[in-house]
Amino acid sequence: MEEFSYQDGELCCEDLPMSRIAKEVGTPFYCYSAAHIIKRFRAYDQAFGDRKHLICFAVKANSNLVILNLLGKLGAGADIVSGGELFRALRAGIPANRIVFSGVGKTTEEIQAALDAGILMFNIESMQEFHAIAKTCRETGKKARISFRVNPDVDPKTHPYISTGLKKNKFGMPVHDALEAYREAKRNPHVEITGIDCHIGSQLTQIQPFLDALDRVAAVVQTLNDEGIQLSYLDTGGGLGIRYHDETPPDPGKLIRELIKRMDANGLQQTVIVEPGRSICGNAGALVTKVLYTKENSGKTFVIVDAAMNDLPRPSLYQAYHDIWHLNQTSNRKPCLVDIVGPICETGDFLAKEREMPLPAQGELLSVMSAGAYGFSMSSNYNSRPRIPEVLVNGSEFRVIRKRESYEDLVRIEEIS
Ligand code: LLP
Repeated sequence: MEEFSYQDGELCCEDLPMSRIAKEVGTPFYCYSAAHIIKRFRAYDQAFGDRKHLICFAVKANSNLVILNLLGKLGAGADIVSGGELFRALRAGIPANRIVFSGVGKTTEEIQAALDAGILMFNIESMQEFHAIAKTCRETGKKARISFRVNPDVDPKTHPYISTGLKKNKFGMPVHDALEAYREAKRNPHVEITGIDCHIGSQLTQIQPFLDALDRVAAVVQTLNDEGIQLSYLDTGGGLGIRYHDETPPDPGKLIRELIKRMDANGLQQTVIVEPGRSICGNAGALVTKVLYTKENSGKTFVIVDAAMNDLPRPSLYQAYHDIWHLNQTSNRKPCLVDIVGPICETGDFLAKEREMPLPAQGELLSVMSAGAYGFSMSSNYNSRPRIPEVLVNGSEFRVIRKRESYEDLVRIEEIS
């Protein structure tokens, strides 16, 4: 998180003290560094060298229009998993021919919308989904570009909730079924076989599972090639992890160079698609929150802040660790053990548990780090809490890229009679 650092004792995002943003927009809020997003995108982009590629940002990680627009201008496409994400990607100016549609449960309406837009390809996850897409094409006279998502049965060694490439997971198709699917698709005039796809999980900190998955996919590509089925795109999914605590994931450049080496070794010539989310924007963001109260219950210290599990569900949902920094440096305070909790009426509402840190004082501002991916995008209105604003920092300037919701926003689409 090099874009977040202390300057004269004050935590800054790029060159801007974050307390200044707090003064203008109030707390809590999400704060993103544009420089970090650009740097991480370029790390992917440049590692490809002259190899044909497309970086489809996983919209689910951070779906703010300004962020998508920024990435789109850098050349990114989008990996979408819903009609809503399609709408956002298009609204943000990402061209349809740079959009891939993943996910196990695409509805007829979503399929129709993606066909109308003319997306690059559907990453298909089951035979029933294939038939649904082919049927929509037949009825509307459109042709879908398709790939099948292979489940390579590789252990990504990550949290079980975000593992997707094991045979016990709901994602993709076993190799044998995928081969059959391609054979059937070849006989269907309403679809155009375009690529092959695979995504094994998220927050991966090692390269080996990516390479193991690629080998399995390469074997499928080889078999198809022998049968005269050629593919233009090879989509290796997303999943590269970031440092939250003490993880040491490879940087994007290293992953891409290793993947390309392995593709070359397997004789794979396709245009490469990757679908990174977290590794582009995770460490670009922080959640700034204010200490409302501190209290001690039977020897345990609680710090109650104004952000909660509805704003950042990752700690409650996955027991995820996020660093918590003071906005004002605290060199002369000694650390103690605290739980940082929100105002929501659930014991599961915490941002950090048994964390050793200098005791924050009432009214003090804290920054929950590494919150740029799956932070705001997973937030909700639980406890009727308006969703919080997002700001984007560029050098010493910032801009509100999503306003704080109002109480009126909470009830806007509800009616009493
Ligand atoms: N492509 C597909 C098909 C995916 O399912 C995902 C993430 C990605 C790409 C992007 O993965 P990334 O590069 O961000 O790891 N909410 C969880 C993460 C869920 C990831 C779901 N799929 C979390 O907060 O850790």
